[in-house]
Formats: sequence, structure tokens, C-alpha cells
Amino acid sequence: MKTISNFSLKKINSFNVESIAPIAYFPSCIDDLITLSTLGLSSFYILGEGFNTLLVENESPIIIKPEFKGIEIDEQADCTIVKAAASENWHEFVGFCIERGINGLENLALIPGSVGAAPVQNIGAYGVELAQYCQEVLWFDFETQSVIQYQHKDCGFAYRESIFKKKLKNKGLIISVTFCFPKKWSANLSYAGLDHLPASASSKDVMNAVIKVRQSKLPDPYKLPNAGSFFKNPVIEYERWQALKSKHPTMPSYPQADNKVKIAAGWLIEQAGLKGYKVNGVGVHEKQALVIVNYEAASGKHIADLALYIRRQVEEQFNITLEPEVRAVFSKGEYNLTEYKNG
Ligand code: EPU
Repeated sequence: MKTISNFSLKKINSFNVESIAPIAYFPSCIDDLITLSTLGLSSFYILGEGFNTLLVENESPIIIKPEFKGIEIDEQADCTIVKAAASENWHEFVGFCIERGINGLENLALIPGSVGAAPVQNIGAYGVELAQYCQEVLWFDFETQSVIQYQHKDCGFAYRESIFKKKLKNKGLIISVTFCFPKKWSANLSYAGLDHLPASASSKDVMNAVIKVRQSKLPDPYKLPNAGSFFKNPVIEYERWQALKSKHPTMPSYPQADNKVKIAAGWLIEQAGLKGYKVNGVGVHEKQALVIVNYEAASGKHIADLALYIRRQVEEQFNITLEPEVRAVFSKGEYNLTEYKNG
């Protein structure tokens, strides 16, 4: 198995901060995973393409970076089954499907990262979530050294959540993701930025429109280092939402099941006066306040400090606690940003 000591992660984290891994493993087959599981590693982090990770310290834990490639298509009467290996690039995979007339993922175009990272946080955008099309996740379990098939219903998918992020964290890794795309398809134009398209729009039209919206709203991580939305949109009880809405009638909100309402974290941060705020070379993006940008090669600590500052300001003004969506990795492993700060 490919193994590199003192491996710099600067080029493979989208905040573009320097952090050195004492050792990085690059498994590319099941035998490599078996070898890895016998090493008894106590602390490590599994890195995809590094688009949703904040490396807080100059040293990272041991890194496992899977290198599983390949896409298989299985045409069935009423659906197309596509199995993509974990290390395929997500956006290229979306393009691959759309080019072949396999529709469904067009609203999820241009999301940076790998296929294997997609189920972990159940990526979602413009009215579609990965969970809608994910049929099965193939998982390698370190303890039993076996491959386990997690069917959709067992993946615990919810808004930016899955069992891979919580219960199964560090217990194994995703090898591939299998999707089921029904042949009967209609464009999902529910998002405000897509409702100008005609109902007859093709999946390619939708994909191109999504790319345009993303390029107009979100900073390009290759030009302005960032990790997309830094926080999740908070979901609050209906009664709390009513009280807030009466004070702030223009607050964007999205009703959910179970008497809850999702509110826009970007709006809260903007209302807290932080849109465009900059400190220590790090800032809140001018167009989308939910995105933290590393403008001047700041360190991971500076980015973490700004995130915690934003969180405190929103807490003070709205009594709402923002939960990071981006995963914070320290030299000893992954921690909740606030827990680490407190102890
Ligand atoms: N808003 C503001 N100020 C801001 C940003 C947003 O007032 O600075 C308002 C917008 O005007 C809108 C609402 O907040 O009324 C929601 O904004 P937007 O449609 O831009 O989406 P978002 O909720 O901020 C989420 C996802 C994005 C995804 C978009 C589109 C999360 C955490 N983020 O952002 O995903 O692209 O919806 O579906 O759910 C990501 O996860 O990295 C990501 C970019």
C-alpha cells in the first residue's frame, strides 16, 4: 500500500492551510484495508478530497486517503443502477451520468469533493439530497475486516447526517456508493434560483443552471479557499420560530416535519452584522455569509477562531447555536470545535 511519512496536506484541503500528517496511507484495494485494520491505529482521520475539513493545527492525525476508482452501470427495465467507487470526483461523476442520459443528480452538480464523502454528510443542494437516489453504501469494517452492504434504510440519512458521520465514525470506510435512478424523471425546479426554467428543461439544462447559480453565489474554492457552508441551517421548534418570525418578518424559513422549521444560518450571520467581516486574513464571504474564506493564507486556528466568534455573535443576538457542518480536525483527531476549545 502506498504510504508517505510527514505528508503535507496543504494542497488537499480546500481552506488551503498547512498541516502535516505524521503518516498517510493510501489504500486502493481490500487487501490494503485488511492491512490497515491490523495496524491498531488509535487516532486517524479519513480524508476524501478535503472540501469539508478544517485542519485546525499544524500537525494532523494519521491520514487515511482511499484511492478506489471505477464506475459500473447496470441498465434495468425501469431504472439505471450506477455504482461509483469512493474516490471518484463527485462533480465528474454527476457529469458522467448526465452525459449518458442518466438523470437525477443534476441539482447536485459542482459540489466539490469525492463520491465517498457524499453519503457521510448526505450532500444536498437546490431541492435534492443524495439520499433520494442512494440505494446502497459498501463499507469496509475495520474490526471484522469484512465488507458490509448498508441499504438506504440503514444509512440513517437526515439533513447533513448519516450513520457514517456518527455511529460508524472511524470504524471503517466507504468503498463505493450505489445509486438507483428511475427512468421516469422530471426536473426538480423547486429552488427559487431554478424556477425560471421551463418544466420541459432537460437534466443538462438543469445542471447548467445549477452551475451558474453556484458560480454566482459561492466563492470558487480554487481561487478563494473555503469549504462551502461552514454551519448547518438550524432546525428549531415551531413555537420558537413563531416568536422569531414576529420580530423578523423577512427571515427566510422552511417548514419541516415534526412541527419544526429550518432557518437560514447565512441570514442569521448577515443580520448579526458579520457579512464581509474580516480578521487575521480570514473572513465571512461578501455574497454568502455562511461561507468562511481564507483570504490571506491564514492558519487553521484563525479560521476556527472566526467560526467560534460567528457562533457567539449569533447566539448573543438570536439565542440560536449554530452547529458546524465542516469537520474540525486537530492533531489528536476530529473534535467538535467548541468541545475542543473548552477543554
Ligand atoms: N441568505 C442571506 N444572507 C446570506 C446568505 C443567505 O440572507 O448571506 C438567505 C438567502 O437570501 C436565502 C436563504 O438565506 O433566502 C438561504 O440561502 P441559500 O439559498 O443561498 O442557501 P443556504 O441555506 O445558505 C444551503 C446549503 C448549500 C446549498 C444551498 C442551495 C446548507 C448548510 N447549505 O445553503 O450547501 O448549496 O442551500 O440548496 O444546508 C454546502 O453544504 O457547502 C452548501 C453550499
